[in-house]
Amino acid sequence: MGQLSKKLLVLAAMVAAALAVAELCGAIPLEDKDLESEEALWDLYERWQTAHRVPRHHVEKHRRFGTFKSNVRFIHSHNKRGDRPYRLRLNRFGDMDRHEFRATFAGSHVNDLQRDGPVAPAIPGFMYAGVNVSDLPQSVDWREQGAVTGVKNQGKCGSCWAFSTVVSVEGINAIRTGQLVSLSEQELIDCDTADNNGCQGGLMDNAFEYIKNNGGLATEDAYPYHASNGTCDAVEAKGSPVVVRIDGHQDVPANSEEELAKAVANQPVSVAIDASGQAFQFYSAGVFTGECGTELDHGVAVVGYGVDSDGMAYWTVKNSWGTAWGEKGYIRMQKDGGFSGGLCGIAMEASYPVKTQSKPKPTPTPRRALGERKSQ
Ligand SMILES: *[C@@H]1O[C@H](CO)[C@@H](O)[C@H](O)[C@H]1NC(C)=O
Ligand SMILES: *[C@@H]1O[C@H](CO)[C@@H](O)[C@H](O)[C@H]1NC(C)=O
Repeated sequence: MGQLSKKLLVLAAMVAAALAVAELCGAIPLEDKDLESEEALWDLYERWQTAHRVPRHHVEKHRRFGTFKSNVRFIHSHNKRGDRPYRLRLNRFGDMDRHEFRATFAGSHVNDLQRDGPVAPAIPGFMYAGVNVSDLPQSVDWREQGAVTGVKNQGKCGSCWAFSTVVSVEGINAIRTGQLVSLSEQELIDCDTADNNGCQGGLMDNAFEYIKNNGGLATEDAYPYHASNGTCDAVEAKGSPVVVRIDGHQDVPANSEEELAKAVANQPVSVAIDASGQAFQFYSAGVFTGECGTELDHGVAVVGYGVDSDGMAYWTVKNSWGTAWGEKGYIRMQKDGGFSGGLCGIAMEASYPVKTQSKPKPTPTPRRALGERKSQ
């Protein structure tokens, strides 16, 4: 990641408030008649609340109804127009406006932390610099290679940075060792507190350095997730049957989707994006083409790339909002669309963990001084 432009990636509590509940619920289908009158829209709002089990106080319900209506109209008209390669869905973020969603991602204290906060040093260089772009595969999907765990849900906690970190560490560990092990976001939240801020946000680069300096990261099972700040439990972490180690991290040269592709062809990569747009909020399926800016506020991970049947190139991105959002928890984001920094800034601050091949321990050979005679 770049130095000064660093942002703490913060995901606010309200995203989570909605998140915790609707994991098992399908989306509410929208039909013209649902938008026909105020009564129909109120009825839809009530059905949405039930389906997503979002408890709303009477007064709050009336306050949020305006936002709900405008979101519903936005989603419905987008899908009816059908002039974009992606579709939207009325999901559990249905009565949150853009500012609330945005505020969720960028708390006011973030600027201070960003200004003062040290950024963990990367291993110099870019290990995939020598990859010949014309040798890159047409498509890459680390899920098919068994290097990606199931989609997780960060819940009521701004811990996207921990989830993003864990995806790329799980990935390189699976690639180097052949073992796919689900790792602990909670250990990062509880223990990586020198530079990161738990549920109030953090940076993937700092998290990579914590894992390096700590001598590894515990498994998800040994140190499970509970979506809130906790006290670092070294005993729990040390009791992990496996501890996954890395040697550090490297940054992908900024603002080049070509460089990013070289890295992604070799391992899942952690990226920061601008996820605050209304379309992103309600993304359902297809290749996402925007709108979004480049105010990086969310940490996710690129686990592949490809080209769809219409010839549209995309990045396959794993999110941490559960499987009910997007394409079973994933979003395909437009690749090589001619945006500097990539769509939503995806190529601005990409980084990945470095883990050298673990070599089998050499069999110790008895040392003999020169000239010493073999003992029989
Ligand atoms: C990259 O690969 C292509 C085709 O294999 C080859 O023609 C080209 O010379 C290579 N470029 C470099 C810089 O090695
Ligand atoms: C969580 O912990 C971090 C420090 O690790 C702190 O900055 C943040 O304010 C805490 N959040 C809550 C909600 O207690």
